[in-house]
Amino acid sequence: MSNIEQTLSIIKPDAVERNIDNEIKQMFKNKGFSVVKEKKIQIEKSEAEKFYKVHETKPFYNDLCSYLSSGPIVVMVLEKENAVLDNRKLMGATNPKDAEEGTIRRKYGISIDKNSVHGSDSDENAKIEIDFFFRD
Ligand code: CDP
Ligand code: MG
Repeated sequence: MSNIEQTLSIIKPDAVERNIDNEIKQMFKNKGFSVVKEKKIQIEKSEAEKFYKVHETKPFYNDLCSYLSSGPIVVMVLEKENAVLDNRKLMGATNPKDAEEGTIRRKYGISIDKNSVHGSDSDENAKIEIDFFFRD
């Protein structure tokens, strides 16, 4: 039985700034993801605060929101079977130091905060996050 899903991916400012967004996008395509929607934007800090609201009590929340709004990002809807989980696997651990060989964060991540990509962590959050950026 097929389980085609969509998930939200963000290429974060550290990666867009280094002009590696196309290389990262190619890694998704190589793993069978289709990029069904895509836009390059810069968001306000207030929007980043809404997007990362689940983290509002965390000590890193303020820096995280400043960071996500600090420069252009590429926001994409990725589609394939088991997209949510497979995207998390391809991204690798939150801290690039812990990310496995072959993952995006291992290859491109600079630090735990500048870790190059965001990906939805559940099917439910994928729907919420896709709606957040692509409601129209
Ligand atoms: O992005 P991911 O789902 O792997 O991690 P998260 O736990 O949902 O945290 C969201 C983002 O906050 C991470 O991607 C990091 O950029 C940042 N973060 C941080 O700066 N310092 C931490 N100790 C934990 C997370
Ligand atoms: Mg997360």
